[in-house]
Amino acid sequence: MSSREFDGKVVIVTGAASGLGRATAVAFAQAGARLALADVDAQGLQETASSIGDLGGEAVALPTDISDVAACAALVEAAHARLGQIDVLCNVAGAFGFAKATEISPEAWNRIFAVNVRGPFFLIQAALPHLIRAEGAVVNVASASAFLGHAYLSHYAASKAALVNLTKSLAMEFIDQPVRINAIAPGGINTAMTATPSVPEGIDFRLLGRYTPLRGSSEPEDLTDLILVLAGPRGKAIHGACLNADRGITAG
Ligand SMILES: NC(=O)c1ccc[n+]([C@@H]2O[C@H](COP(=O)([O-])OP(=O)(O)OC[C@H]3O[C@@H](n4cnc5c(N)ncnc54)[C@H](O)[C@@H]3O)[C@@H](O)[C@H]2O)c1
Repeated sequence: MSSREFDGKVVIVTGAASGLGRATAVAFAQAGARLALADVDAQGLQETASSIGDLGGEAVALPTDISDVAACAALVEAAHARLGQIDVLCNVAGAFGFAKATEISPEAWNRIFAVNVRGPFFLIQAALPHLIRAEGAVVNVASASAFLGHAYLSHYAASKAALVNLTKSLAMEFIDQPVRINAIAPGGINTAMTATPSVPEGIDFRLLGRYTPLRGSSEPEDLTDLILVLAGPRGKAIHGACLNADRGITAG
């Protein structure tokens, strides 16, 4: 068999039970990587691991709630113990939900930030020694919402903007170390997250029109090549970037 880009590499993917995380895990497996798969959804995680097994790949399912800081460290430790190294960390898991700003509870605010920012940060913190040793990479999944004022998504949009700046800040702090830290910012993706969005009663739908992608939505598989480029040697010139992949939503 010809050699593949991620042969001999170990990749952690969060959010791997569904949508973009699942597609990312499968794409890495097809490129030769061994996978540590994390998600709160243990059943979906097992399905992803099985489909990677069916492709002849190797994947370990590690059910994890990334809003739990101790669980983040335990995930990295378990991935390293089971697979022997960590070359790439992909923070794909995310929490979402439309809400009027007047109705967001402190608990809802904290949950969004715990999953979208705090979890990724503490996963990176735990994984960095391994990633530096491996001369590896971090890829965070932000959102076009990081770059637009987004009505009824103030907590989500703020969390994704925070994730973008977290990416850049860590890229600067580790500029002298052999690790690359980047993000992507997709627009709409056809996944469970947006399949049946529940919107609060009485919202002004005019304010949501701004985000309707004129070029339609992406499939998860449309974005996986970009993630693999950032994670591997083809992305060697890219550090501290957030690459927009939103079919033009943030163009104007
Ligand atoms: N779907 C979109 O339109 C869209 C657009 C821009 C960015 N994104 C981002 O893409 C990423 C992937 O989302 P998706 O569209 O594939 O949605 P998805 O709902 O299919 O997948 C999200 C996954 O994250 C997991 N997750 C949620 N909370 C978790 C937690 N506490 N611990 C571990 N796992 C948890 C879920 O169980 C789910 O499997 C997210 O970060 C999302 O914010 C999505």
